[in-house]
Amino acid sequence: MRKLREKSIVFVGFMGVGKTTIGKLVAKKLYRDFIDVDEEIEKEFGMPPRQIFETFGEKTFRDREQSLTISLSKQPLNVISLGGGAFLNEEIRKACLENCLVFFLDLSWDSWKERISLIIDSRPVLQNKSLDEIEELFYSRQKAYSLHNSKVKTDNLNVEEVADYITESLKLAWELYE
Ligand code: S3P
Repeated sequence: MRKLREKSIVFVGFMGVGKTTIGKLVAKKLYRDFIDVDEEIEKEFGMPPRQIFETFGEKTFRDREQSLTISLSKQPLNVISLGGGAFLNEEIRKACLENCLVFFLDLSWDSWKERISLIIDSRPVLQNKSLDEIEELFYSRQKAYSLHNSKVKTDNLNVEEVADYITESLKLAWELYE
């Protein structure tokens, strides 16, 4: 088994909770490389997720998301942000929980819905849904996100504060357990 301090850090949570922004900050603070799975898939296909869904279908996106995430989870010392749907996949969950430290960024529905206009156009799974349906999707995914190593409630914190909190808690865990 990989040493705790060498494990990659993985961020999970619903779309638009700040996985990429916070992941980048944490990577910088820990002098690690940052990898955004959506961005890697986007580079490969030469188009953003919404267009991949429209052109090739969701399954093509999900298959690539699965193979890429599982292979990235086996590398040490990275900070990785997953797409919001990735953790619904049991194989992905298993690989990440086995090989990495998984942080769930937990934003409440009330705070999340304030941000909806910033993200709705770019997210394929939010298209043609009412607010009630999006709320249902939000809550239905919480069970998958609840399988994590550590959770941060981000409602009243800015991204710097969240990143600092995570970095400090990691350093403490490394000291305590190794
Ligand atoms: C998805 C979330 C997106 C992206 C794709 C599908 C989802 O990532 O992977 O649009 O099913 O929740 P973000 O969580 O970064 O928005």
